[in-house]
Amino acid sequence: MSMEINSLGPVLGAEVVGVDVRDLSADGFKAIHQAHLEHCVIVLRDQHLTPEEHIAFSRRFGDLDFQVLDQYSLPEHREILVLSNKAEDGKPLGLPDGGRRWHTDMSYNEIPPLGSLLYGLEIPPEGGQTKFANMYAAYDALDDETKQRIDGLRAVHDYVHHYKDADAKSGGKRAKMTEEQMASLKPAVHPVVRTHPETGRKALYVDQGHTIAIEGMADADAHVLITSLYEHAIQPQFTYTHTWRRFDVVFWDNRCVLHQAQPYDQTKYIRHMHRTTVKGTRPV
Ligand code: SIN
Repeated sequence: MSMEINSLGPVLGAEVVGVDVRDLSADGFKAIHQAHLEHCVIVLRDQHLTPEEHIAFSRRFGDLDFQVLDQYSLPEHREILVLSNKAEDGKPLGLPDGGRRWHTDMSYNEIPPLGSLLYGLEIPPEGGQTKFANMYAAYDALDDETKQRIDGLRAVHDYVHHYKDADAKSGGKRAKMTEEQMASLKPAVHPVVRTHPETGRKALYVDQGHTIAIEGMADADAHVLITSLYEHAIQPQFTYTHTWRRFDVVFWDNRCVLHQAQPYDQTKYIRHMHRTTVKGTRPV
């Protein structure tokens, strides 16, 4: 089997075929790592992984992080967050409406993740795609005046605010966060423009889901600026839409990409995914 890496679009995304990530040589790993840095999102086709194998492959990129909503993790593998509309005995197996706003995963943590590996186990025949936006390209395309204005700004990222909003939109159907989960979540402050620790490139680091304020700026002004930046970033020329195939593992770089899950008809179809999240470094 020989590995092939094919670009999926002009701005980001590549598929990797002809590889089994359960049995990857050092050279194969190096090629995948390089493709991830170059294309920001890679789609590893046709992988057949147990949760243990999904975790083992993810760990080759670093230690794994845990999502605070552990009621949606696999009971025997807390590293795996389940995104699903499946239920067993009336109990949801996963988060049914995760990721519906443009965001970078867990940016509300002081040390947010390097990347996430989402494994598609059951895919709806329509809807349920994942969109990605290249935040290097979005930054590069800003005019010099905006670049100067945002250089050195620091933004506040918060999960509690986001969760309450998502819960209200779902009609209060999301599981309530426990006191302990709430207490573990403090807002984090990160640069609006971060430098990627591996490529050295600058990328915008604000999103719709978690970025709620900018240090030293009035809330109304910050809201206008944050909205204008992520709306700029999600324009079609910076994005790629991934239409899932069963057994895709999609690995995105949270340091330079925003993503958003698309809706699908949950009354007709099942979408069942497992996600691992690799720890990153403090954004600078
Ligand atoms: C996520 O935001 O991690 C989930 C994305 C998706 O379900 O497509």
